[in-house]
Amino acid sequence: MDISRNPAMPAGNPQLADAAPMPQQPLTVHRKDYRPPAWLVPEVHLTFDLALTCTCVTALMTVRRNPQAAREECICLLGDGIVAETVMVDGGIATGWHMEGDDLILPLAQDDAQITILTRLDPAANTQLMGFYASQGMLCTQCEAQGFRRISFFPDRPDVLSTYTVRMEGSAAQFPVLLSNGNCVQSGALDNGRHFAVWHDPWPKPSYLFALVAGRLVANRDDFTTRSGRKVDLAIWVRPGDEAGTAHAMQSLKHAMAWDEQVFGREYDLDVFNIVAVSDFNMGAMENKGLNIFNTRYILAEPDTATDADYDAIEGVVGHEYFHNWSGNRVTCRDWFQLSLKEGFTVLRDQLFSAAMGSDAVKRIEDVRILRAAQFPEDSGPLAHPIRPDSYQEISNFYTATVYNKGAEVIRMMRTMAGEDAFRKGSDLYFARHDGEAATCEDFISAMEDGAGLDLAGFRRWYEQSGTPHVSMTMKHDSSTGAVTLTFVQRLSASGDDQVPRPMVMPMKIALFDRSDSAPGEFRAQEHLLILDARECRFRFDGFGEAPMVSANRGFSAPINLDIAHDESRLQFLAMHDDDPFCRYEALQQILTTEVLATAAQGADTQRRRAITDIFSFTLADDRIDDLMRGELMTLPPISVLIETAAPADPVALQTARIALQAAIGTACADQLSAVHTRTAQHRYSLDAGSRGARKVRNHALFLLAAADGDAAARLAQRQYENADNMTDRQGALVAIAGVQTSLRDTLLEDFAQRYRDNALVIDKWYAIQAGAHHPHVLDQVSKLAKRDDFSLRNPNRVRALYMAMAGNPTAFHEASGAGYEMLARLILALDPINPQTAARFVPSLGRWRRIEPARSALMRDALKRLAASSYLSRDVREQVDKSLG
Ligand code: ARG
Ligand code: ZN
Repeated sequence: MDISRNPAMPAGNPQLADAAPMPQQPLTVHRKDYRPPAWLVPEVHLTFDLALTCTCVTALMTVRRNPQAAREECICLLGDGIVAETVMVDGGIATGWHMEGDDLILPLAQDDAQITILTRLDPAANTQLMGFYASQGMLCTQCEAQGFRRISFFPDRPDVLSTYTVRMEGSAAQFPVLLSNGNCVQSGALDNGRHFAVWHDPWPKPSYLFALVAGRLVANRDDFTTRSGRKVDLAIWVRPGDEAGTAHAMQSLKHAMAWDEQVFGREYDLDVFNIVAVSDFNMGAMENKGLNIFNTRYILAEPDTATDADYDAIEGVVGHEYFHNWSGNRVTCRDWFQLSLKEGFTVLRDQLFSAAMGSDAVKRIEDVRILRAAQFPEDSGPLAHPIRPDSYQEISNFYTATVYNKGAEVIRMMRTMAGEDAFRKGSDLYFARHDGEAATCEDFISAMEDGAGLDLAGFRRWYEQSGTPHVSMTMKHDSSTGAVTLTFVQRLSASGDDQVPRPMVMPMKIALFDRSDSAPGEFRAQEHLLILDARECRFRFDGFGEAPMVSANRGFSAPINLDIAHDESRLQFLAMHDDDPFCRYEALQQILTTEVLATAAQGADTQRRRAITDIFSFTLADDRIDDLMRGELMTLPPISVLIETAAPADPVALQTARIALQAAIGTACADQLSAVHTRTAQHRYSLDAGSRGARKVRNHALFLLAAADGDAAARLAQRQYENADNMTDRQGALVAIAGVQTSLRDTLLEDFAQRYRDNALVIDKWYAIQAGAHHPHVLDQVSKLAKRDDFSLRNPNRVRALYMAMAGNPTAFHEASGAGYEMLARLILALDPINPQTAARFVPSLGRWRRIEPARSALMRDALKRLAASSYLSRDVREQVDKSLG
């Protein structure tokens, strides 16, 4: 994913990276302005003459007037920072063309033409990592969303689909491996130590799915036979020396291929599937047809270098990109406003896949935690947008938690309302109806209505409206009749051109626990699926002598804020006994959130604390759950959720109260936690659930103990660190000790740096652990880390490791003087001319100022205002800064 995008380009030519970039004029693109393309491009032949600093690209395009569109006398070929050296039409030099900004306008009187354009690129100077760039001596592409126009002039929009043939040639020593989409149809040696390869992709695709890779790479090869008997050659390409780290990714790929056949009926459609891992990458990975390109962090894993969470992320992202082959590639998007059509659906598909490979319960809890921590704050702030936005300035800024994760929740709700079988009929119809097309969200909804037999008329509002819906629930019990009435009321908000606010339609799963008729320790209740489709909805249930305990929004069936009239004993009961794992976790999170907020506001209360430590004690001893689930129940609410709930928040006070609560739990449950730590130390390392669960509770036990007694826990952490035979244990120990002021801290951090100095992904962890630590001098440490030789603004993983961790750490970012805000603003200004897409990702942290207490809020705004006043900002950063202030 998490997850977690780029065409943001300074207008500067990549060849002229040193020249001062020109300010960009913000231009807003509106969904309602969509027009079909005037010209289609059925075929493209690309020739690349490869070199690190000067690659020559010849594009031969067969273009044809689109009979469905209004006639235009010119064809507009979009460009971005590139220069056309030669333009030919039907074999003759063309002269009538001109440039409009970055785009090439070519008059064409006829209905069909062959256009040839030559461009010259400097991939080594392309620091934006969009289009064609160099990374550690290899050449690769990233075209989504609008990177193809940095390679060649083209109608670079997702509703123009072409078949591609790509010929590459270059030094055989420098670029022994030459890859592109589809199948390799020809290859061979040339004079002067050069060689070539020709690849052909038979499936028409939009330009954003084009990919090329050239470099010194080695492959882990395997194969997969599809259910109809097609043998597919699989290869994961990495730099020599990294092969051993690809086993888990390969395993994940094969599982994903089999799962998509079984669960969605989707089969792979080429004879080869290649994955390449690259160290410099703006996002997680990219689903180019037949040639997925990945950030190394979502491919490479060995027990000594990757945590259990890393293993899970690899499985999820490998699945995600593979699933795009149908949800994204075979059926693509009509325009970029439809991004959630492929991303929301594909995130849901990868979530279901990961759940099937591991623990359903825990996967759901993790997904909701991410949604709450990342998407809810986005949806309540200045950058809120519907999952299908109405406008954008820079599309890279819309690869968001809203489009991805809320988008997945919206499709999940359809699945919940339809049931699994009917949902499958809907998705089958969607794929059958739109195969080979560029579709819209509306097409998806219609296919679901027709195939699954749902009426989604009112449900469409989820696509139009931003913001997290608020629903309140009240229960009335009539002891004389035994009737229970549940009333749900939605708070409505108007949006867009809508004058009259309309309610959202949502599935609400509930259960009523009748305490009078359960055996001790056994609580089961029938689950009901209610559909909320009006501002106020009322449901009646009979047969309750005593008021039952309501478990609502089970499995987080709707992505909303649900307020239930406050009742401590109900929450405490659910936190220990709810048979819906999500609701059990949720009840405890609510108790903990209330406690942290109350402590931050008016200090601790022994009685409330006692209730909480009793629940922890119960949880640690509960043999009805496994350790993976127990680990979830040992997790305190993320700081971003606390800030969101407290608004206006004092983040440092919340952080302090959160740690104080950890300390109270660590003290009260010390014996049990030490016992857990000892019990789990016996487990042998493996990736099975028992062994992972053991590592998870061991680390949580250590964190709680460390909060209670730093010195004692430091010794425990040191032992865990030294005896570790895997990264989950070793990193857990280092994280625990990084928050403690002890000389052991420096010793272990230094050891870690030495031990892993040759592994960039692990050194990223080392940066993030220090920047994320609750430590009095954390900002100084971040400044020092940024000056190291192995820190570079040109590597997004390293930049994110240091500064995303800093921005998420209240001790650092919300330091009272405003030094954290200032540091982030300076980073954004320094990074913007190098990599605007990644720079823009840091702006939303400052954009949260409205939720923060007045003194800090003013400092955050000052930092944004200084950014706004800068003489140069990319379109990416400009859009985020303007909206954050607005
Ligand atoms: N489609 C990719 C994924 O989610 C994301 C790539 C977006 N890249 C970008 N530069 N905007 O799988
Ligand atoms: Zn995706």
